[in-house]
Amino acid sequence: MFNNSPQIFDKIISLCKRRGFIFASSEIYGGFAAIYDYGPYGVELANAVKREWWKSMVQYREDIVGLDSAIFMHPKVWEASGHVAGFSDPLAECKSCHERFRVDHLLEEAGISADEKMSEEEINKLFAENREKIKCPSCGKKDFTEARKFNLLVQSNLGNFAEDWTKNPVYLRGETCQGIYMNYKNVLDSVRVKIPFGIAQIGKAFRNEITARQFIFRTREFEQMEMQYFCSPEEEMQEYEKLRQVRWQWYLKLGLSQENLKWHQHENLVFYAKEAYDIEYNFPFGFSEIEGIHARGDYDLTQHSKFSKQDLSYTDARTNETYTPHIIEASSGVGRIMLAVLCDGYSEEGGRNVLKLKPQLAPYKVAVFPLLANKPELMAKAREVFEMLKSDFMTAWDDRGNIGKRYFSQDEIGTPYCLTIDFDTLQDNTVTIRDRDTMQQERVKVGELKDILIGKLS
Ligand code: GAP
Repeated sequence: MFNNSPQIFDKIISLCKRRGFIFASSEIYGGFAAIYDYGPYGVELANAVKREWWKSMVQYREDIVGLDSAIFMHPKVWEASGHVAGFSDPLAECKSCHERFRVDHLLEEAGISADEKMSEEEINKLFAENREKIKCPSCGKKDFTEARKFNLLVQSNLGNFAEDWTKNPVYLRGETCQGIYMNYKNVLDSVRVKIPFGIAQIGKAFRNEITARQFIFRTREFEQMEMQYFCSPEEEMQEYEKLRQVRWQWYLKLGLSQENLKWHQHENLVFYAKEAYDIEYNFPFGFSEIEGIHARGDYDLTQHSKFSKQDLSYTDARTNETYTPHIIEASSGVGRIMLAVLCDGYSEEGGRNVLKLKPQLAPYKVAVFPLLANKPELMAKAREVFEMLKSDFMTAWDDRGNIGKRYFSQDEIGTPYCLTIDFDTLQDNTVTIRDRDTMQQERVKVGELKDILIGKLS
């Protein structure tokens, strides 16, 4: 189903809350802007997305290893990386309603190519030239202040007990990859890896996003999945092309429809970057980035070597050459991928809502229903089946209401298979297995259930 409408988006957001996928943070206090919590089904979906990514990036790869670095790092990390000086968004305020907006987004929405990497001067020039075309999305007026750049790093007083701690803040990491650069040498010296090799990490990142919109698409606390691949200067672009293909195929395997995915090549590259592409998904609010794949040259390790005064060069045993490794990265957000998967899978058909998630992503793989909750012999047999399955599959139990309602309830959270234990089960030890998407039912032996499910879910 093609879910490109604001009405559908509202329905997906409402389903996420109603069915325990995503809640606004601290809701009883009115919520906390741009922060969300994952409920019982949301955490399963997020874990499944992370599991699939980890399998593809670490488990299946001999040349990539995992890492879990701390959220806090030495503040010099963020100076060396350029974030303290340059990690900022251009913002303007509507003089009429006083809402703030990202000017690069306002320009893009008016069909003018812009991005946050432009200098304050560049973006203000473009903004001034196109003032007539740009209306305030909130009140419709065309009267804005000039754009100013706001730094996105979130500051903290961790370990600093001075009253004026803001003079020497530490930062909650703005991207997880800096922890990878910090550990590049540790990994090299402690694990048997040789260039080319990668380090993968999943973890929280924090950004002071001013215009946080579109549900979990842009939040202030989010989880990134980043893989940094260290290679020789000569290998960089060849490895970059390979990585682009690997990442594109991963989204197809995750079940996203190809027509809802596209490449976006960056026009305004930062000075050190050789090439940068985003993979975009066609959300109900338009095509937007879910992953960035960047060829970063030797910028990162050169900067950290300069600021830390440590030698981060590498002597390549293949050529005897010594160089600072070049880096290509694949950087995606768990929340954005979850949102894409939910939008792609949401379907309304024949009076039911169905989340057509790939089985490996579904919060529950199978649900077990006793036909009647007031028949102890059916309940006992259903419990036996439930206990047998739960160690191998995330298994739901439901004995409320009628079977039809139970099916609809599981369809809405994406459970691919439902099993009903009825009076025939007591006679012949068979159950009905019902398929979420086709709604077809077949009768199978209890003793064969595990193998059947393994076959269907793999
Ligand atoms: N190390 C490179 C880097 O962080 P990025 O394009 O700023 O690049 C990478 O972020 C990915 O992280 C994005 O494609 C997106 O999926 C996710 N992401 C970034 N900012 C986000 C936010 N405010 N909320 C949710 N996800 C975000």
